Amino acid sequence: MKILIVGSGGREHAVVDALAQSPEVRKIYAAPGNGGICEQAELVSIDANDLDGLARFATVERIDLTFVGPEMPLGNGIVDAFRKRGHTIVGPTADQARLESSKIFAKRFFKQNGIPTAEFAEASTLAEAHDVLERSKYPIVIKADGLAAGKGVVIAENPVDAHRTVQQFVESRTLGEAGSRLVIEEFLEGEEASFHVFADGRYFQPMVAAQDHKRRFDADTGPNTGGMGAYSVDTILSKRQQDTILSRIIKPTLEAAESYSGILYAGLMLTAEGPKLLEYNVRFGDPETQVILSRLKTNLLDVLIDTAEHRLPSRKLDWTPDAAATVVLVSRGYPGKVETGKQVFGLEEAKRIEGVKVYHAGTRCEDGKVYTAGGRVLNVTARGSTLAEALERAYFVAQMIKFEGKDYRKDIGKKGLAKQR
Ligand SMILES: Nc1ncnc2c1ncn2[C@@H]1O[C@H](COP(=O)(O)OP(=O)(O)O)[C@@H](O)[C@H]1O
Ligand SMILES: [Mg+2]
Repeated sequence: MKILIVGSGGREHAVVDALAQSPEVRKIYAAPGNGGICEQAELVSIDANDLDGLARFATVERIDLTFVGPEMPLGNGIVDAFRKRGHTIVGPTADQARLESSKIFAKRFFKQNGIPTAEFAEASTLAEAHDVLERSKYPIVIKADGLAAGKGVVIAENPVDAHRTVQQFVESRTLGEAGSRLVIEEFLEGEEASFHVFADGRYFQPMVAAQDHKRRFDADTGPNTGGMGAYSVDTILSKRQQDTILSRIIKPTLEAAESYSGILYAGLMLTAEGPKLLEYNVRFGDPETQVILSRLKTNLLDVLIDTAEHRLPSRKLDWTPDAAATVVLVSRGYPGKVETGKQVFGLEEAKRIEGVKVYHAGTRCEDGKVYTAGGRVLNVTARGSTLAEALERAYFVAQMIKFEGKDYRKDIGKKGLAKQR
């Protein structure tokens, strides 16, 4: 089989790595890929958002199966464009992807289907927003309606900050069109969890739960990022929480979002009243994918084919009871401006460490050398028979790898360890 992976992050590297284990896979292409993916796939220099270019490539190269990492091409209709040309692709249509690409659409959908979520109001003018804020309790959560690459959500502690935020989103358009309409919602307290399922249009299969670390600095301080680390271990959700998520959140969603296929990822807040849905993503999380796939024993290619061909009910997914953890190595300055082009050392040595894989995110390869090419550079991912062992291995390698300006959080998985005590 010939496979095309769209995207260029650590998530895509983990997917490529899992697919490369299949004997049926003859060739993998990645558009545009990165400096680590190039070891297992041929890089194609087509932008992940160039839908026509990608569809033409799939036709010319006779690609058998396409998998899309990021939300933007899904929101823009890559699945529709590929299906129109008769290509097999795993993912939701643009219409279905509105569960992620419009927070207003999503919140209305949750409400219509009785899905537990934060109370909310919509606003599409400054006056409406100010009106809502006058009546609100604080802290309050302000969300831009459209895709904003993780920059569209602000938790405002007081009315002054809240008014300033809506002013920036709605009037100054700091996020462009994405911030022209808003969701203003109740602040929920609790721990967060990421819950993914494979959905084939009729049935679904749940994956193991994971926890992301969004904030830039230790103890969940500093600005939000694309994700500074993640772990997956069976104790993230209790049996009861998992049952609630399946019966009150995932099932009603897939019944209402008719024929949804691909990955569905629920971002949850585990509140005192039970799990509540913060948002859906219509694709794999990054860096959650890195830990989830490292626990998947079933061949990923088989699962993706079943997902595309409505055959999931007959597929039982096998997971290791092992824990997995990933530590994201970033460039100094992230999530702000960073310097790139620094050479990365220690990658060959890291390959010899048992139970560890280093997935590349913002890297590029030149003459056999690897250089930094973005804010999130590498995802050191480890498995262990306990979470403590997985973390120990990941941190050992995180230290071993060197590049100028390297930084990372030192407390990944700490909440998970505390829970086990
Ligand atoms: N209602 C809420 N209460 C408390 N925290 C929230 C709430 N909604 C979002 N957050 C926080 O903001 C983060 C980003 O919000 P989310 O809805 O996931 O948007 P996005 O991922 O598109 O930026 C969440 O991971 C969570 O930490
Ligand atoms: Mg989110």
